[in-house]
Amino acid sequence: MCGIVAYTGNKQAYPFLINGLKRLEYRGYDSAGVALLSENQIRLYKKQGKVADLERFCATEDLSAHTGIAHTRWATHGEPNDENAHPHLSEDGSLALIHNGIVENYLSLKNELLKRGYVFKSHTDTEVLIHLIQDIRKTEQVDLVEAVQMALSVVVGTYALAILSSEYSKQIIAAKKGSPLLIGLGKNEFFVGSDGAPIVEYTQKVVYLNDEEVAVLHPDKELQITNIRNEKQRPSIQKLELKLEQIEKGGFEHFMLKEIFEQPKAIVDSMRGRINTQKDVVSLGGIIEYENKMLNAKRFIIAACGTSWHAGLVGEHIFESLIRVPVEVEYASEFRYRNPIINEDDVLIAISQSGETADTLAAIELAKRKGATVIGICNVVGSSIARSTHAGSYTHAGPEIGVASTKAFTAQVTVLTLMALSLARKKGTISLSYYYQLVNGLGAIPEKIEAILKKNDEIKEIARYFVDKQNVIYLGRGVNFPVALEGALKLKEISYIHAEGYPAAEMKHGPIALIDEAMPVVILATEQETYEKIVSNIQEVKSRRGKIISIVSEGDETVKNMSDFCIEIPKTEELLSPLVASVPLQLLAYHVALLRGCDVDKPRNLAKSVSVE
Ligand code: AGP
Repeated sequence: MCGIVAYTGNKQAYPFLINGLKRLEYRGYDSAGVALLSENQIRLYKKQGKVADLERFCATEDLSAHTGIAHTRWATHGEPNDENAHPHLSEDGSLALIHNGIVENYLSLKNELLKRGYVFKSHTDTEVLIHLIQDIRKTEQVDLVEAVQMALSVVVGTYALAILSSEYSKQIIAAKKGSPLLIGLGKNEFFVGSDGAPIVEYTQKVVYLNDEEVAVLHPDKELQITNIRNEKQRPSIQKLELKLEQIEKGGFEHFMLKEIFEQPKAIVDSMRGRINTQKDVVSLGGIIEYENKMLNAKRFIIAACGTSWHAGLVGEHIFESLIRVPVEVEYASEFRYRNPIINEDDVLIAISQSGETADTLAAIELAKRKGATVIGICNVVGSSIARSTHAGSYTHAGPEIGVASTKAFTAQVTVLTLMALSLARKKGTISLSYYYQLVNGLGAIPEKIEAILKKNDEIKEIARYFVDKQNVIYLGRGVNFPVALEGALKLKEISYIHAEGYPAAEMKHGPIALIDEAMPVVILATEQETYEKIVSNIQEVKSRRGKIISIVSEGDETVKNMSDFCIEIPKTEELLSPLVASVPLQLLAYHVALLRGCDVDKPRNLAKSVSVE
């Protein structure tokens, strides 16, 4: 949700901090700020707007300092403005704090602090933390680290935070619970980041803080980690699995376009080492230990949010078709509060690109408490979800920076397909010929996507038709219904045009009332079992003067002749069609948003990782 960076060491802090914020801006970008510590004095600069606005605001300031913290915000409490931007200062200006997460009991804590005379400058939950720490220091007569431990012991909610104090030169305190935070270890220097992007060019040695851990960073001392009960913890140093070039745009105008074009490689990478052609088996190393649990599962529950939920809906078709075991797909945010029936022979599959989505994490904890086996499908190595599930498979799509998820979706669907093939082969619920057909079909997908990417300019032309539209309907059937939902989400989240995905057959139960000449209808009409039905649905729309934009299998002249616009894509096995049919819809949304002057990589009101409820 928000981006956190911090530095202490022998270099100038500001250049690392401001570049780090740019690397994390996809996490939230409605305001940003930096606090620098030198000569036992804290200097604070913060501003509503993007990181570039902060940079301009600081341009004429003295930014020399070897220790600092910085933050880019996605507002949860308190509107985006200068006052609510982080860092927040204690009343005497001796403490500065940045925070990613939600203090759920902030109101009761704030009321207590107000009674004690504290004055709040902002409307954020975060500011409660800084005054609470200061209050504990004064009333309990403890040092700063203990005050932080004690304050976090009474906090309900989530946090990733960094704190500076003018009393402790060069020192940074970092703490984490429920929001990601990692520490980069340099030579007499420490780097802190919400993820590896700000750190990767400086060090590959990192420590992922665990929940309720508090780290004390000082360039002249060893890294100290305790938990909030002041019990020493041994740092587990890991290698950062990230390369710098992976987080640059690589010559593309936007991260989103780069990531759309990376899909052939992402899918190859998501299959790498998992299709053993010698032994003719598909195997996913990360779940081997729990394969029996999955083979004996009476039910699969797929929990996710947004695009990952759409991938789960595709997974439902694939799992039920190949493994013949019931699958339920749940919005994690609904599942976690519904007191669902979960049995010990259930397997919950949590799908998440970021691995930090709060609702999905909560669904995982709920399922684990009720004895189910929990398998993760994540794209970020070492993410909270990856570390909270019993086992899992990484999608290996590479960092996805654009807020609108693209390559993560197709990689998720690929991994779900591999999982289903592996289980179906072992359960004997798939014929050998169909198994090979799908394995070979998967292998052909990257090339088919390459063919669609070559239609980028053609799709850009079609996008012109959408620029002034207010509403769009997306229709699909069967395994392409989730693709209709995904196409609609892509369009609305980056172009701000209202779009809805519907099962094509559902039109006549109400939505067809919306159809007129001003209503574009994007319809997925690739060759599949219900093709004839889709043709009838197109007729129904046309007879009400609706405009048809169709995605068809190459050579389909029937639907092409019925359409106002038509995008032909390579034929593929029905179960694999979401892997190709989703790509033209990604490009369509991208170009419509661009033509409408929207910020494609950082759409308004959104953030890449929703690590709060
Ligand atoms: C997708 O384009 C959106 N950015 C959003 O719906 C996203 O898929 C959702 O927030 C889930 O994120 P996750 O996959 O990181 O859990």
